Amino acid sequence: MDDAVRLVCFPSRMNDAICLITGANAGIGLETARALAARGATVVMAGRDPKKVEGAVCQVGGSAASGNVEPLVCNLASMRSIEAAASEFRARHTKLDLLINNAGLFLSDRIVTEDGFESTIAINHLGHFLLTHLLSDRILGSGNARVVNVSSNAHYSAKGIDVDDVHAGKRRYSGVRAYAESKLANVLFTRALARRWSGRGVTVNAVHPGVVNTRIAADGDARGVIKLLWDIGRPFMLSPADGAKTSLYVATSDEGGAVTGRYFVKSAQRRPSRYALDNALAERLWEASERAVGFERSHG
Ligand SMILES: NC(=O)c1ccc[n+]([C@@H]2O[C@H](COP(=O)([O-])OP(=O)(O)OC[C@H]3O[C@@H](n4cnc5c(N)ncnc54)[C@H](OP(=O)(O)O)[C@@H]3O)[C@@H](O)[C@H]2O)c1
Repeated sequence: MDDAVRLVCFPSRMNDAICLITGANAGIGLETARALAARGATVVMAGRDPKKVEGAVCQVGGSAASGNVEPLVCNLASMRSIEAAASEFRARHTKLDLLINNAGLFLSDRIVTEDGFESTIAINHLGHFLLTHLLSDRILGSGNARVVNVSSNAHYSAKGIDVDDVHAGKRRYSGVRAYAESKLANVLFTRALARRWSGRGVTVNAVHPGVVNTRIAADGDARGVIKLLWDIGRPFMLSPADGAKTSLYVATSDEGGAVTGRYFVKSAQRRPSRYALDNALAERLWEASERAVGFERSHG
C-alpha cells in the first residue's frame, strides 16, 4: 500500500535531550519512543490510560541501552487532564527539546468530550494545541527544540475546515471527513506555529508516517467499510517501526533542525494540500482553537 520509507540512519546520541511523545503507549508512538530511548534520550511517554502507559514504559525502559523513560498520564480528550499533565511535566523538567504530537484516532461516530468538543478534532488537534501552548516556555527555553506534529496524507481529502463548526454540530457527522479535517488542522497548526516561533530556536514540522499496521482503525472506534478496508489492507501496510521513521527523521536529522513549517512524507519534504498552504485559514483555525481552549493570546 505504501512504499518502504527511505532508509535513514540516526548516528548521534541524544543523552541530554528531553523528549515528550503523546500516544506513546502504542503503534507509531511506542516505536518512536523506543528509538529515541535507544539513543540515550530522556523520553516522557504520554498516554491516556495509566496502566497502558506504565506497561509501555516497562517495555521501552527494560532495554539496557535505553535512556530514562518516564510515564505521563495525559488524556487529550480532557482539558483538565492536559493541564494536569503539563503541570506535572513542568515540575519534572526545565526544558523540552522534542515534542512529538503523535496521538490520534479515527471515530466512526460523533462523540462529545467532557469539554463539549467533538472527539476527533479535540484529540487530534485541540488537545495538542493546548498542550503545546502550556509547554511553550519549556520548548522555547530549550534553545534548540523541535516540534513534530503527526498528520496524515488523509489531509489531502479535506476541502478546508469550517472553523465556525469545528465540532461538526451543525452538519451530519462523517468520521472520514472529521479525521481528514483534523489532520489538515495538524498541518495548518504546524505552519501557524512555525511562523510565530520563527527565529526563536524551534523548528515545527508535520509528517505523514505512511499507511501503518496499527490499531488506529481497529479497536472499535471504526466500523463498517472503513474497518473492513483497514483489515483487508493490513498485510500491505508498514510495520509500526517503519511508520516511526519519518517522525524520527524530522526529530533527529540535520534537515529537521534546519527547516520549519514543512510537511514530510517518507523522510522527504512534500507539498501539502492547497488548503494546508492557506495562511488565512491557518489564522482563522488558530483563533478558533484559542477560543475553544479558553485562551486568546499567542504562543510564547
Ligand atoms: N496508522 C496509520 O496508517 C496512520 C496514517 C497516517 C497518520 N497516522 C497518525 O499516526 C498517529 C499515531 O497513530 P497510530 O497509527 O500509531 O495509532 P494507534 O496505534 O491507535 O496509537 C494511537 C495512540 O494515540 C493514543 N490516544 C488515542 N486517544 C487518546 C486520547 N484521548 N488521549 C491521549 N492519547 C490518545 C492511543 O492511546 P490508547 O492506546 O489508550 O488508545 C495510542 O497511544 C495518529 O496521529 C494518526 O492519525 C497513522
